[in-house]
Amino acid sequence: MTSVKTESAYVVYKMGKLLDQSVSMLDPLDFDEYFVNGTFSKFATSDDIGPLLGFLSDVVGVVTLESIKSLDEVSAMAAARDLNMVASAVTKFGVPMHEFPHLEELLLMLAEKTNEVPTDTVFGYGSRNPVGSRQRSFTRTEEEALFIESFSGGMNSLMATLAGLETIQSMNISDSRYAPLVKESAQYLYQMQKAILRVRKHITPDFFTHQLRPFFDPKTIRGKTYFAAGGAQMPVTIIDLLLWGIEDVDRTYVGYRNENLRYLPRSYRSKVEVIMGRPSVLKSIKTQISQPLPSSAVPTVANTIESLKELADQLIRFRGPHLSVAKANMRIRQEGSVGSGGYDVSILQYLIKRTKGFKNQLALVQQAISQGSP
Ligand code: HEM
Repeated sequence: MTSVKTESAYVVYKMGKLLDQSVSMLDPLDFDEYFVNGTFSKFATSDDIGPLLGFLSDVVGVVTLESIKSLDEVSAMAAARDLNMVASAVTKFGVPMHEFPHLEELLLMLAEKTNEVPTDTVFGYGSRNPVGSRQRSFTRTEEEALFIESFSGGMNSLMATLAGLETIQSMNISDSRYAPLVKESAQYLYQMQKAILRVRKHITPDFFTHQLRPFFDPKTIRGKTYFAAGGAQMPVTIIDLLLWGIEDVDRTYVGYRNENLRYLPRSYRSKVEVIMGRPSVLKSIKTQISQPLPSSAVPTVANTIESLKELADQLIRFRGPHLSVAKANMRIRQEGSVGSGGYDVSILQYLIKRTKGFKNQLALVQQAISQGSP
């Protein structure tokens, strides 16, 4: 039977997941105790930076460049996860990173080892974050635990959606496996919808905006500014890319996409290179229907197109409530406030519009097929 998880495209995602799980188990800097006993969050949430500065000199200060140099790649990812939590806590106090040259140097060396950006990402904060008492958290609140789990859970299911869409990217639209693969891919997206609905229910705008968001400000490391962990770094960007984004030259889209793709781990960035070497799903469909279809293929193709429209609807079932969560937060912030990725809600409205645009294009394809003309 056709299943996304038995497709070869899934293997690399699955390996990425195993890698993240391995990272979550590691504690190369021996920081576990500070997260488990609450010391770190006590310092991070204090009104006074003093205790955190003490932590920086007593604990981070003794981490040597030599010890970082000797780490293997997976351990380096775990070390980066933990040191980036510290860097974010420092940034929350409004102290620029260059005041901590040792920390900057450690982060840059880790980035070299991991081939990733020298800042916190949704992978470090979500998928590579240990579960249970070892969880790395700024506030040690139930709300933050739920927030972290929304990212890690969402990411798990996104992998399967991506593998499914990657498989159909070069598939013939009259292949009977096409629609089942798309339907299954859409089902995995349901996890994202569930996650955002839970966030909307359990995390108030007041809590998020005033207690959590301050830990997600951008930081400047050796003159370069990096955004903090955030949803825009989730590979939902790759879904848009696969569906319609490859040939798209709209400046808003290309700028947003390129900005966020650079925060992805190497395995995802390699996937993106392969994906971008082929036509998008939309382009491929348009090319395929530009030739007359044999009448026997029409019902299967109609099913294919319908399944993609349903997937777009499922994506909107995440993006719609997510927009309302973001708007509710922005309403209580100062005018001009942005998300952790540096964007205001207009980017979310834009992406919803583009997803609906994709669906409209599919409707036109349906019309062309039913009229029997390309
Ligand atoms: C209080 C909670 C949240 C707020 C206020 C919020 C706000 C935002 C904002 C303003 C953006 C635009 C990019 C940026 O500047 O960061 C964004 C993007 C995004 N966020 Fe969230 N977010 C929240 C929770 C979540 C959760 C829990 C998830 C995942 C389960 C998520 C997934 C995404 C995704 C995938 C994007 C990229 C845009 C898209 O593909 O539609 N967000 N978010």
